[in-house]
Parts: sequence; C-alpha cells; structure tokens
Amino acid sequence: MKFEPNTWYMKNDIATLKDIKFLVDTFYASVQQDTFLSPIFNARLSGRWEMHHRKLYRFWHTVLLLRPDYFGNPVPIHFDMNIDERHFDEWLKIWTETIDDNFEGLIAERAKLRGKTMGSAFLAKIKKATSK
Ligand code: HEM
Repeated sequence: MKFEPNTWYMKNDIATLKDIKFLVDTFYASVQQDTFLSPIFNARLSGRWEMHHRKLYRFWHTVLLLRPDYFGNPVPIHFDMNIDERHFDEWLKIWTETIDDNFEGLIAERAKLRGKTMGSAFLAKIKKATSK
C-alpha cells in the first residue's frame, strides 16, 4: 500500500500569539495532572490561575516571538517554593512533551532549548539565594 502525506496531522511551528496561548494552556493542563508538580502550583495559584496564564502568554510571546510585552522579574518569585532539580526535570519533561506533541519547526526547537536553559538558570539562582 502507498502512503500519501496526510496534512491533517502535520504539525506547524509556533508562529502566533494564538499558538503561544495554546502552548501555555496545554502545558499547564498537563502540569495540573502531574501529582508531583501540581501541589506546588495549586498552593500558590488557587483562584489566580487565569492571571498566571495571562502573564505566561506575555512571557513566552516575548521570549519566542520577540514581541516585548513581559517586563517582570520571574526568578525571585520562585525562591520560596522549595523546588529543586527534580521539579525542574519534571517541568522540562512536560514542557518538551507538550511542544513535541503539538509543534514542529525552528521556534518549537527554540522553545525547548529556552525551557532547558532558563530552567537551569532559575535553578542555579534559586540554589544561590536559598543556600545563604
Ligand atoms: C518546577 C519548576 C517551576 C515551578 C514549580 C514554578 C512555579 C511557579 C508559580 C507557582 C508561579 C506563580 C507565582 C505567584 O504568582 O505567586 C510562577 C510564576 C512564573 N514562572 Fe514558574 N515555576 C517553575 C519553573 C519556571 C520556569 C523554568 C520558567 C521559565 C522558563 C518559569 C517562569 C515563570 C514566570 C515568567 C512566572 C510569572 C512571574 C511574574 O509574576 O511576573 N517558571 N512559577
């Protein structure tokens, strides 16, 4: 049997704010299903998830599509969450899977790479700030 390419399931790259919103919504839907990470998020974000999503749309829009509309300082907000390598590994696993399941292309690759590098940078700063 000859298989023709099926455009129905072909993945596209992350290209628009709509894609960023889909990525963020899908990622946090999986995070909420994750028994290791969800308690940390829920403890901080109960009743505030919508605000968190709106911030994260702007954050990833800035990082990935280079549209500067996030001006916060996200690292210190993570200092008192009691999170370590294991949490960041799980975070990155879900982030990478969410991208691979839904997107393909240059920006999708950049999203995975930035998740990895920023995760490491956050962790290094958290360790430094909490070891004093
Ligand atoms: C296991 C790892 C992580 C956990 C448990 C975590 C958890 C959280 C939580 C609970 C908040 C909301 C804080 C609040 O509003 O009170 C938050 C905010 C945020 N997180 Fe994370 N996070 C993690 C990793 C990351 C990584 C790797 C990035 C970036 C690549 C990131 C980017 C942000 C940003 C941009 C905000 C919004 C900060 C602001 O208010 O301006 N997080 N995070």
